Amino acid sequence: MSLRRTPPRTSSLHLSGRRVMLRPIGDNDFSAWSEVRRRNADWLEPWEPLRPPYVTDPAVDRSAFVARCRAREREILSDSAYPFGIFVEHRLVGEVNLNNVVRGALQTGTIGYWIDRRQAGNGFIAESVAVVLRHAFERLDLHRVEICIVPRNANSRRVVEKLGLRCEGTAERYLQINGVWEDHLRFAMTAEEWRERRAEMASRWLEAEPPDASASLK
Ligand SMILES: CC(C)(COP(=O)(O)OP(=O)(O)OC[C@H]1O[C@@H](n2cnc3c(N)ncnc32)[C@H](O)[C@@H]1OP(=O)(O)O)[C@@H](O)C(=O)NCCC(=O)NCCS
Repeated sequence: MSLRRTPPRTSSLHLSGRRVMLRPIGDNDFSAWSEVRRRNADWLEPWEPLRPPYVTDPAVDRSAFVARCRAREREILSDSAYPFGIFVEHRLVGEVNLNNVVRGALQTGTIGYWIDRRQAGNGFIAESVAVVLRHAFERLDLHRVEICIVPRNANSRRVVEKLGLRCEGTAERYLQINGVWEDHLRFAMTAEEWRERRAEMASRWLEAEPPDASASLK
């Protein structure tokens, strides 16, 4: 475990998987982000926290979006979260966020994600999670990363199943999702497990594959 880390710069946070490129979302992404979030509102709403009525929707208001970008930059600079847009063939298709980074004796973080429904079923999220896990364990020196899922979210459970994450059980009424305190299944990986499985994860999700096997945008 390294005890001294260089503070991250947002501009250097470009991560790559086999097909996905991850980077923090910036002011210039407003049109693309707004379009994909608005088009997918019904797809995402059942699985996300309810936005309080007094908070402006950043998908419809540029200044609220810019404020969101600034807030997320501060999180990166304070080492409390690492949010990424997911880009495939230069197009924004979703987000994967390493949130709630806690240092001290815990050294942990929580991953959350979503994808444009048009791009669902390509395994882009599992690949993006593998990229973030590698960053979390090999660059940020975290010891544990978790993903928490509402049990009836079958699509998200398939993601952690494909990645082979360990289920640690149910946390009752754990997170507010769409206005309800929902139970969540907690899935996790530790740095020890990452070291054991690194080669397998890299060959399945991170390294280049033969050209004819790669998925592209629909
Ligand atoms: C959960 C989610 C991120 C999975 O992303 P993904 O990149 O599509 O994941 P996968 O490609 O591995 O697909 C997972 C499963 O989704 C289902 N699926 C695939 N395409 C789909 C589509 N167009 N519509 C609905 N479900 C679909 C399939 O059952 C698939 O399992 P399979 O590969 O064994 O057939 C995505 O469904 C999503 O954004 N859902 C809404 C937001 C959400 O649930 N976020 C996670 C909160 S924990």
